[in-house]
Amino acid sequence: MIEKIEKLKIKAENDLKSCVSDKDFEDWRVNYLGRKSELSDILKNIKNLDQDQKKVVGSLGNKTRIELEGKFKDTKNRISGTIGTSKSSEDYSLPSRHISMGKLHPVTLTLREIRKAFVSLGFQIAEGPEIELDKYNFDMLNIPEDHPARDMWDTMWIDEKINKNGEKMLLRTHTSPVQARIMENQDPPIRVIVPGKCYRYEATDSTHEWHFYQVEGLAVDKNLTFSDLKGTLYEFAKKMFGSETKIRFRCDYFPFVEPGVDMSIYWEGKWLEILGAGMVHPKVFEKAGYKDKNLSGFAFGMGPERIAMIKHNIDDIRLFYSNDLRFLEQF
Ligand code: FA5
Repeated sequence: MIEKIEKLKIKAENDLKSCVSDKDFEDWRVNYLGRKSELSDILKNIKNLDQDQKKVVGSLGNKTRIELEGKFKDTKNRISGTIGTSKSSEDYSLPSRHISMGKLHPVTLTLREIRKAFVSLGFQIAEGPEIELDKYNFDMLNIPEDHPARDMWDTMWIDEKINKNGEKMLLRTHTSPVQARIMENQDPPIRVIVPGKCYRYEATDSTHEWHFYQVEGLAVDKNLTFSDLKGTLYEFAKKMFGSETKIRFRCDYFPFVEPGVDMSIYWEGKWLEILGAGMVHPKVFEKAGYKDKNLSGFAFGMGPERIAMIKHNIDDIRLFYSNDLRFLEQF
């Protein structure tokens, strides 16, 4: 009987070490200290033992129960983050268990830096829906149903395809639809950035993901010119990458701007495109309901993952979302 109690104690102590959750602790308690536990059985049946045995088994059984109760309380308190106040055989001078702390994702850190840079330039921050109406993603941006520009984005459509008003829905392919939403609801002057997630049905490679962030920018006012757009983006690039950064603008085509450009940063011996931009197309103003012919504006849409790649010298965009802790722990 003595050997049985001793073996039981060793097993209980070992099992206690692997308890992590509240459920683990409760199961352990029921199993080793509960009314139907082996130890309770032994103690209940002491009356059937002979006189000598009664004394030894009773004393060991009770001592074991008290020790297990103490260990249970201490371990549970320690794991749940509060040091137990009960007396126990634990050595409190030992270093505490390592608690691993979470960290912000490198893309979150980059998004925060982008926000800070634009807030310092006088921009406000807005958001829009990730599940978007076809109308905002394409039509309001001067991309009509049959326009070849729609082929530029391979879109993930929502299963139902249409909402209750009969409108087609999709996972937005860029943050530009929020431009149209803002202009519909707000009169100029506007200076706003829109961070958010985008989705495209496309093959991935070292600079393309099928889901990624963009930060849209929109400024609408009287007398805004292409110089204002360039000046804003230069200033942003200097804040993000330092004053020595080499920047290149090239002509590009987006149906919602005229003229349109893309901007690249010189990195690792080559140019990496980080954004598309341009002067807001008059048709976009018209569709948003702006009647004042003196209005002008500029817009841009940038990729924070690409910016994080340049800042931290990361050569493959897919690392951001592969959830490899060896990569993520470096930030
Ligand atoms: C657009 O999405 C336009 N809406 C940008 C724009 C806004 C132009 C306002 C004019 C005015 P584009 O497809 O080039 O354009 O994407 C813009 C940026 O998003 C790219 O420069 C890149 O940094 C990022 N990006 C685009 N596709 C991906 C992808 N598959 N993976 C990661 N980043 C991407």
